Amino acid sequence: MTARESSSRPTVRRELRPADREAVRALLDSTGFFNREELEVAMELVDDRLTHGEASHYRFLVAELDGAVVGYACWGPILGTAESADLYWIAVDRRTQGRGVGHALLADAERWMAAEGRPRVYLETAGRAQYEPTRAFYLACGYSVVAELEHFYAPGDAKVIFLRVVESGP
Ligand SMILES: CC(C)(COP(=O)(O)OP(=O)(O)OC[C@H]1O[C@@H](n2cnc3c(N)ncnc32)[C@H](O)[C@@H]1OP(=O)(O)O)[C@@H](O)C(=O)NCCC(=O)NCCS
Repeated sequence: MTARESSSRPTVRRELRPADREAVRALLDSTGFFNREELEVAMELVDDRLTHGEASHYRFLVAELDGAVVGYACWGPILGTAESADLYWIAVDRRTQGRGVGHALLADAERWMAAEGRPRVYLETAGRAQYEPTRAFYLACGYSVVAELEHFYAPGDAKVIFLRVVESGP
């Protein structure tokens, strides 16, 4: 049975293990979204965490389905701010997209950020057509567009900045 056919729910752990490295690279590749430069940046963050552990600026969440790594997210506090955090990266293996893995990762990242006193969650993505599903995902997860920097990535391709303020629990 493949992960796609499985009916189990994803589990999310707040820990990046050395064995996750290749799985993360493979799932990033599978999305078809990232060019070589972006992949290098993504892997630099992975390596920073694996090298420096808790001392790293980057916090990772890893999603598994039936014991296989199918997605991950990475965030960090925005230094110099009181309550803001940045979601640097989120990706789900192409074969398991649309099954709630991304939402589970984002929801747990938000709980973690809020627990660390950083309920203002910022993230950015591109305005070009390729990222329409990504923007729809963030809107569906409760984010709002707070700024758009025209032609940021390329002529006609804006940087779109989203924000969600996580409400503290009862
Ligand atoms: C964006 C991404 C992380 C979302 O993860 P996912 O596991 O596919 O998303 P989920 O299944 O948790 O979707 C949650 C909600 O977002 C919305 N959504 C997700 N994908 C969508 C799409 N393609 N079109 C419209 N809405 C979408 C839906 O409302 C969905 O809720 P539903 O299940 O009730 O329909 C994933 O698709 C991905 O890795 N994309 C490529 C890489 C990328 O763009 N990363 C972010 C930029 S760094």
